[in-house]
Amino acid sequence: MTATITSIAHYLPPDVYTNEYFEKYLDTSNEWIVTRTGISERRFAKSGGTSDLIVPAAEECIAKRGISKDEIDCVIVATVTPDHFFPSTAALVQHKLGLKNAWGFDLSAACSGFIFAISTASGLVKSGVAKKVLLCGADKMSSILNFEDRNQAILFGDGAGVCLIEASNDDNYGMLDQVLHIDGMGTPFLHMVAGGSAKPSTIETVQNKEHYIVQDGKNVFKYAVVGMADVSLEIMKRNNLKSEDVNWLVPHQANLRIISATAERMGIDPAQVMINIHKYGNTTAATIPICISEWLQDGKIKKGDNLVLSSFGAGFTWGSVYLKWNMND
Ligand code: UT7
Repeated sequence: MTATITSIAHYLPPDVYTNEYFEKYLDTSNEWIVTRTGISERRFAKSGGTSDLIVPAAEECIAKRGISKDEIDCVIVATVTPDHFFPSTAALVQHKLGLKNAWGFDLSAACSGFIFAISTASGLVKSGVAKKVLLCGADKMSSILNFEDRNQAILFGDGAGVCLIEASNDDNYGMLDQVLHIDGMGTPFLHMVAGGSAKPSTIETVQNKEHYIVQDGKNVFKYAVVGMADVSLEIMKRNNLKSEDVNWLVPHQANLRIISATAERMGIDPAQVMINIHKYGNTTAATIPICISEWLQDGKIKKGDNLVLSSFGAGFTWGSVYLKWNMND
């Protein structure tokens, strides 16, 4: 048996922040941001938590599939910006949507959250533990961004992508393989210093701005370029996929230069790479499902298309998924 995506939708908050917004108060420029990252604008939510980004996407996703909410038996939220430490954002999503028959949990894998979560959801479906998993990749990055730091403020955005994972009606389609990695040596390069059990929040930690992202961008960039390309090549090799067999590379959207380097090493034509970083920046666990949802909406993904999903993020975490597209027609 294989598991597959049977419906997908996304939500982005309406408020757009262009690079000019940052030019007004930071020592930065539209030219620097565009050439170094590929980002032109991003969305920030003015209120609410990550669960509030998920709910509209989830409602649309479920409606598109035409099923009753009672049929959903599991909800997974991949995020690094949960509404609260506890309960899980999955619990809030379950309650807000009224999913009477679901259990669920949050999954923390930063930018690889969606890749790890779709692999987990696929395992739950294949083992018979769950039949219809509501899989959410969402982050409200504006809640942990230091808006005074030009090294990070311009990089991220808020958003959510939600899909349903069910058994595929044809074993030749769906999630056919995954390669996943984690290595905690990456922690110092991308992390949040305070607020967790190792260093609970105090007045001092807040004054020191330790509740925001810390990123050594240059080092993360170096590891990301190698990690994302290697894992993508590994999954292609394992599945005898040549460059021309890959219809869509769906890369995590952290930096256009990382995406281009990955595509180049895979030998993928730039026209076959999903890119929307210019519109939304890095929405962490949401980038990949938002891409798939947008491309599907535009009629660009066809049954039988080979999709290679790839990500690299904090942890470090990185991975790749091979998905042969069908929506159980
Ligand atoms: O998704 C999670 C994983 N994260 C990533 O994958 C992010 C990976 N890293 C990156 O995308 C890039 O490293 C950045 C976009 C964060 C930075 O780009 P870079 O080309 O690596 O720049 P840099 O950090 O080497 O900085 C070069 C210069 C520095 O100035 P000095 O020290 O040379 O005077 C920075 O201070 O650019 C400066 N700089 C900026 N200048 C204008 C950094 N941010 C900005 C800015 N505007 N916003």
